[in-house]
Formats: sequence, C-alpha cells, structure tokens
Amino acid sequence: MPEAPGTDGAGNEAGTGGAGHSGHPGASVPTGAPQFQVAAKNPRRVEGAVAVAFLASLLAFAAFGAAFWVAASSWVLGVTLGVALSAFGFALVAWGKYLMPQGPFEEPRPQMATTPAEKQEFVADFATRGKVAVERRGVLVKLMGAAGAVLGVVLAFPLIRSLGPRPNQEQSLYHTKWRKGAKLTSIEGRAVRVDDIEIGGIITVFPPDDLGGAFSQTVLIRVQQTGDIVTEPGRETWGPHGYLAFSKVCTHAGCPVGLYEELTQQLLCPCHQSLFDIGTGAMPVFGPAPRPLPQLPLYVDSKGYLRAQADYDEPIGPGFWYRGGSNGGPQ
Ligand code: FES
Repeated sequence: MPEAPGTDGAGNEAGTGGAGHSGHPGASVPTGAPQFQVAAKNPRRVEGAVAVAFLASLLAFAAFGAAFWVAASSWVLGVTLGVALSAFGFALVAWGKYLMPQGPFEEPRPQMATTPAEKQEFVADFATRGKVAVERRGVLVKLMGAAGAVLGVVLAFPLIRSLGPRPNQEQSLYHTKWRKGAKLTSIEGRAVRVDDIEIGGIITVFPPDDLGGAFSQTVLIRVQQTGDIVTEPGRETWGPHGYLAFSKVCTHAGCPVGLYEELTQQLLCPCHQSLFDIGTGAMPVFGPAPRPLPQLPLYVDSKGYLRAQADYDEPIGPGFWYRGGSNGGPQ
C-alpha cells in the first residue's frame, strides 16, 4: 500500500484508513490525495502530545479510583476526576482534529430522477386507486361532519353541567328545606327536645325531610338554662329557652362552621378562621367572612320539641348573597 506523501506515523494511519475503506467509494481516492493528509504540521509531535494526555488521564482515573476507595475528601475526588476527564477529552479532540484524514470524501451517485413515463404511470395509478378508495366521498364527508357536530355538543355537556342550577329557578338558591313547624332533627333522625342539650352544648340539626342536607345543616346551641335570647331587634322570639340556631354554611366560602367556644360564645370556621359572635346574631368578629351566619327562628311546641318558625329569612352561604339587594335577590 503506498504511503501518503509527507507523512510518517500519521501518514501510516491515513494509509490504513484508505485500506479500511476498501470496496467503499472512498477507496477510489488514492491514499496520496490531499483528503488523506492530516491537519498536523508535525504529526509525530501531536501524536506524542495525545499519548501524554491519555497517559495523564489514565493516571488521574487510577488516582480517582484509589481516592474513592479510601473515601478521600470531596476535593480530592473532584480534582482527580476533573484532571482525568479533561486530559481524556483533550486527547480525543486532538486526535480527531489533527491526526485523522481531513477529507472530504464524496461518493459519485448515478442519476436517480424519475422518468416521464414512470411519472405518468404513477399519476394514473394514483387517480384510479383514489377514486376507488373514496368513491362515496360525499357520504363520508357528511357523516364525518355529523359525527364531529355530535362530538362538539357532547363535549359541551360537562361545561354546561358545571355551571350548576339556573339561578332564580324556583328561587331554589334562596331557600332551604326549613319550613314552618319543621322539627329540629339530628342526623340520626331523632327530634330534639328542649331538655336534650346541656348548657354550652352544640349539635347539628336538619329538617326531618332533609337529613344530611348540605344547605339545611344548622348548628343548634344551648346558651343558657331558660329564657329567650334576643340577638337583634326583631328577633325577640327566635331564641326560646336559651337555644340559638344558625346556618352551618360559612358565609365566606361555604365550609361547615362547627366549632363552638362556650366561654366566648363564638363559632369558629376551621377553613379560614372566621369567628362569629352568636350573642350578636353570629356577626363575624374575625376572619374573611363578610356577613353574619343566618339565624333560624325557633319555637318550642307543647310537647317540648324544638321547631322552626320558618325558613331562614335570607340566603345561606357565601357572600354573593350579600349583594342581594342590588342584584334582584332577596335582602
Ligand atoms: S369558609 Fe369559613 S372562613 Fe373561609
């Protein structure tokens, strides 16, 4: 094999590269051609530098391994690994950049353009097969459009349903299931009598026909032994025999207000710590709740059962309803 002119050790490598391409179009390039020349002006010197770099990396890798084995400090590990990788990388780059044939090597290729006859044949084939395949295209397009339309409608269902009930429909958002004469009933279905709860006690009550109802849930608190409790003017008869009842749905964001502190007579909403003073009609005294908890008017029947005088006189729940006077809702 002829040696590439102007090279020695690296030139041998170039010659080897040429032989390695035997049978490949690159093999048609004579090994003495400029493509086979290496970039280094002094290949032997570069070869020596690459060898030194590989040797350095070898030693540094070994040092890193030893340091790792004896659990040396982090900086020793870092330095040895850094030196090893740097030297190894330098050697690879230098080898590739200065000691490899520069190329380029090009492979002559035959003309691969399609002939006019082949084109015509293809067009004819395409038209024939396309016509057969979509012979009923009009029907298919209509069916596809119909399916897409139905899909669009179906996709809108979750959106429409997530909007919830229509406001003002039967005023359902303004009322609960409490009615005149409804017995205050525990979640177990037991009607509450006037002597059932200790002073300072609290239970959750519902109308008998809506046990567990999210909107009807009401906290019943016994504040004192006897006597009516007046929380606001106009509510003189709402708190008989030391009992008060308030909606359990927080007026901030609707969490259940179920924690009662007897000493301060305050209800606490655990969600954002709104505090309601029951002595003043559950007026919020702390936290983000914008308005009092609605109070349920009570009375005690002749058999000692606690009953509702009527539904709440205002919507229960979060603060949207506070704007009732300006948006058409009840005050
Ligand atoms: S929901 Fe009661 S304070 Fe936020």
